Formats: sequence, structure tokens, C-alpha cells
Amino acid sequence: MALLPILHYPDPRLGKIAKAVSEFDDRLRALVANLAQTMYDANGVGLAATQVDVHQRVIVIDTSDSRDQLQVFINPRIIRASPNRRLAEEGCLSVPGVYDEVERPDGVTVEAEDERGRTFRVDAEELLAICIQHEMDHLTGKVFVEYLSQLKQTRIRSRMRKLDRASA
Ligand code: NI
Repeated sequence: MALLPILHYPDPRLGKIAKAVSEFDDRLRALVANLAQTMYDANGVGLAATQVDVHQRVIVIDTSDSRDQLQVFINPRIIRASPNRRLAEEGCLSVPGVYDEVERPDGVTVEAEDERGRTFRVDAEELLAICIQHEMDHLTGKVFVEYLSQLKQTRIRSRMRKLDRASA
């Protein structure tokens, strides 16, 4: 396993659209293992392959306090979204230190494949529902800050550039 470097907003590679996975092979399983290790190392609750510059529809999530309940979603699709929307605070490993509120459906049913290509469904609510929608946005090239006002986005971009210069 290996830790993968996480792209930081506004890196244009975060805007790429991921392709569907068609081969459920050892290479895919190695990617999943590396994504999980990278997410745990960074103390995140979710990570999309897009964030490590791999443009395939793969996300990993662990919303448990014990950090031992890995959930892997390959080719995820939302088949039901609750009509009720809720504002909740989000953060992102690609936008470190930035947290803000985003409004989304408060529950979703997701269908996806696991690492062996088996299809499964999950009814997600609360943090898991938010997390799945946030990570699925990454696969279509969208970062959560793009839901915020233009003024906030401009401020966040300038803050991120300073941060990345300081750590370069
Ligand atoms: Ni994110």
C-alpha cells in the first residue's frame, strides 16, 4: 500500500470527469487499498479517486468513530434522493482548513459495485448521505466550495494558494 498525494483546490485536475470502472482486477483493488490508506492517514471521512489524480469512478468512505468501517463504492449512482434538503457543514481533504455549509438531500439510496464487481445498495442518511454526495461530486469534477458564493470561492482560492506556497 502507498500514500497518494492529494490534489488541492483549485488544481484544474480536480475538475476532470471520472470514467466508469469496467475491470474489477488487482489493479483496482490496489487503488482502493491506497485510497483507504491515504484517507485514514489524512483523518478524512471520504476520498474520491479524482482527488489523487486517478480519474475513475471509485470512492472510499468511513464515517465511523472507530475508523474501521471502510465502505467502497465503485461506479456509484444515486437511485433515490429524499425530497427533504438540509444544510450541513462540509470539509474536504482537497481544501484543508475550510468548512462551510452546503444544502443537499438529507437521504439517498445509492447503488454501486464493490471491489469484486458485485452490485449492492445502501440507504444512507445523515453524515453518510452527505459524504456519498460530496464524494460523488468529485467524480464529476465538482468541489464542495463551488456551491458557495463567488466571493467566498475567491477568498478560498487565495487562501489555498498561500497555503500551497508556504508548504512548497
Ligand atoms: Ni472532498
